[in-house]
Amino acid sequence: MSKSKILLQVTGSIAAYKVCELLSTLVKADYEVKVVASENALRFVGAATWEGLSGSPVYSDLWQQGRMMDHIELNRWADLILVVPATASYINRAASGTGGDLLTTLFLAHDFKKPFLLAPAMNQAMYQHPVTHKSLSLLREMGVEILDPENGNLACGEIGPGRLMEPENIFARIQARLQPRHSRVLITSGGTVEPIDDVRGITNISTGVTGATIADQLIRDGFDVTYLGAKTAAKPTGPCRLLNFSSFKDLQMLLQNELQEKYSAVIHAAAVSDYSPTPLNGKIPSQSEHLNIELQKNPKLVNQLRGWSINKDLRLIAFKLTSSDSAQHRLAAVDTLGKNSTADLVIQNDFSDFKNGGPEHPFAAYRNSQSVFAAKNKADLAQKISHYLVKESPL
Ligand SMILES: Cc1cc2nc3c(=O)[nH]c(=O)nc-3n(C[C@H](O)[C@H](O)[C@H](O)COP(=O)(O)O)c2cc1C
Repeated sequence: MSKSKILLQVTGSIAAYKVCELLSTLVKADYEVKVVASENALRFVGAATWEGLSGSPVYSDLWQQGRMMDHIELNRWADLILVVPATASYINRAASGTGGDLLTTLFLAHDFKKPFLLAPAMNQAMYQHPVTHKSLSLLREMGVEILDPENGNLACGEIGPGRLMEPENIFARIQARLQPRHSRVLITSGGTVEPIDDVRGITNISTGVTGATIADQLIRDGFDVTYLGAKTAAKPTGPCRLLNFSSFKDLQMLLQNELQEKYSAVIHAAAVSDYSPTPLNGKIPSQSEHLNIELQKNPKLVNQLRGWSINKDLRLIAFKLTSSDSAQHRLAAVDTLGKNSTADLVIQNDFSDFKNGGPEHPFAAYRNSQSVFAAKNKADLAQKISHYLVKESPL
């Protein structure tokens, strides 16, 4: 197998010396590394050190004769891009789209199809500065994986957040991102909106947070995720393919199309309306005291997913929200869904557990009516689903 290629970008932080150790570890682990150093980074550690450790010339100049297209070519060459340490100045310039030097121009030419990791290092005031704070959120939203700095003694003598993540932890994060992807997973999430007329709709209270939490966990664990989310649903923060739906019909069509692609698993967490009205054109006038809306039953999408999928070994995970029933009723509902959908796992949660409380509540997973695991909250559920898929859908 060919070596994975890492584009290691270094900016002008006092922590630059720590990256020599990381670079040496990467080379020993058989990664091919090219170093890009900002002009200010070279004030801290010289080009000779970077070249000596990586075995390749150091890239620093956007205007280098004979290598004018480095800002495009280096992105194409790399399997993973890493900025470590990332200064406040770099972070703020990258987030605002300023491309004045080789590093920020490389960022502008990055298409987010490959992992982009960034490890900030700076004085705690610089880290907590509102501009830096905002820029890091923006970069995260764009799909940059921020390797959060640690709290501790800083080079300036202060104590606080801003200390570069330990090189061995950065190394572990790089390894995790370069592991071969386990498989492709499709996640549906959020609630459908069934139009009554052109301006009104019937919907439900689903937020999409459970689906987004599962998506982010799977992305971190190396799955290739497609997230089919309701327009208003929470979205994963990690890099994945995002598709939107609004109504039952939209979701039905998207699922039929998507399942013509080879997915190894579908996690159907969307709250799909059981009934839809026949929508009227325009806006229904609001003068009358009464308005009758007739609703038609929708077919259960979850029962058709396996039939639509071109993968006959599809892993299917279905969700059942029960509503304050007895344990016996809950199990019966799980059993019916499991049989009709032939889901491999049915994840059950109950309305009574979250109607009065905060955002967290427990889940229980069943297979053929037998308990497989219990999860205390969304994050726990996401991890357990990920473990299940790794075990059940090996590479
Ligand atoms: C001794 C010294 C140490 C510095 N350490 C940091 C640092 O750890 N983090 C940071 O964001 N800026 C630090 N700076 C400021 C940056 O070097 C400065 O903002 C520079 O313009 C960053 O350039 P670059 O992002 O293009 O590499 C330091 C400056 C000096 C003089």
